[in-house]
Amino acid sequence: MDLEIGLLGCGTVGAGVVSLVRRRADKVAQMTGLRPTIKSILVRDLDKERGVVFDHERLTSRPEDVLQDDGIQIVIETIGGIEPAKTYILEALRRNKHVVTANKDLIAAHGPEILRVAEENHVSVLFEAAVGGAIPLVGPLKENLTANEVTDLKGIINGTTNFILSEMTSRLIDFEEALTMAQELGYAEADPSSDVDGLDAARKLVILSSIAFQTEVHLTDVRVEGIRHVRAKDVRYADELGYVIKLLAVGRDHGGELTLSVRPTLIPKVHPLAHVSDAYNALYVRGDAAGDLMFFGRGAGSMPTASAVVGDVIALVRNLKLGYVASSPQGTLSVKPVVDRED
Ligand code: NAP
Ligand code: HSE
Repeated sequence: MDLEIGLLGCGTVGAGVVSLVRRRADKVAQMTGLRPTIKSILVRDLDKERGVVFDHERLTSRPEDVLQDDGIQIVIETIGGIEPAKTYILEALRRNKHVVTANKDLIAAHGPEILRVAEENHVSVLFEAAVGGAIPLVGPLKENLTANEVTDLKGIINGTTNFILSEMTSRLIDFEEALTMAQELGYAEADPSSDVDGLDAARKLVILSSIAFQTEVHLTDVRVEGIRHVRAKDVRYADELGYVIKLLAVGRDHGGELTLSVRPTLIPKVHPLAHVSDAYNALYVRGDAAGDLMFFGRGAGSMPTASAVVGDVIALVRNLKLGYVASSPQGTLSVKPVVDRED
């Protein structure tokens, strides 16, 4: 039996989702008896060339074709930004559709409201793809590590800036050239200033911290500094002194008080984070029972991100088969100053 899906947006991530859903459909049907099938795809420009979309997957520029279709049980949002993504997601939830999103801007700013509306309507919102691309981070923090008091999060959680800094270090190219390459590779946000100014990493830190520290965290709680001012000569001097420059996100729970920061940081070349290059991400997590864990993988790009989106879709299909839904924690926060250098 088909399980019908509506897709909002078909750019870098959406296109990866279309091909990966198709690739995994038979396997999921074998496992669950339900075959995930993309029925309708909402885009802005119907004339754009989209090799990935087949005839039976209806392209539309009318949101109601997805949101008001009673056959569609899961809506995947890959438009990005706050509006119209927020309105569409809330309408999907109110129409009792489960939602999977890769949208960190929206989850960081309006996560609690969206989760509340999902709960009120007895449906799920899953957002593994919003943080760390292919790396499972939300799931482990929300499920597998709940036996721990998590005290530390530290890592590289923006692929674009890591790509730029890596290229500036290894190939000695300048910032602008490296940014253009990151955009061409599909790593950067529609507005790349959110990557280079550290906001994308800060939004991801907000999401991870709310889950890990089980408290409500806001973007304004994060001290943010981007990499726009990092020049080739800074990278060279760092190299001569035995360091690399990385955009490091740090969240610490000091017994109920949090310090949260995103900033360019000198990392000694012998530190494992110094070896995280290209658009890879890595995150250290410290739990009181588990000790130190490190997560590593591709943090951006079409198929790595589709891996996380479609993983969430398959989790929903399994849950639908079993007849249950999921949700997420919230709370309050206070903030202290942060340190400058990691070693
Ligand atoms: P993208 O390439 O710019 O694609 C956006 C898609 O949304 C396009 O298909 C566009 O339609 C459609 N769209 C935009 N505004 C619309 C509107 N008002 N109505 C209908 N459709 C609209 O973006 P992306 O890189 O795939 O990113 C999508 C989301 O995934 C963002 O939230 C981003 O933060 C997140 N994400 C991205 C990555 C990555 O590596 N790129 C990784 C993790 C998470 P047209 O094609 O017609 O223009
Ligand atoms: N622009 C984001 C990044 C995409 O470079 O990390 C993945 O979230």
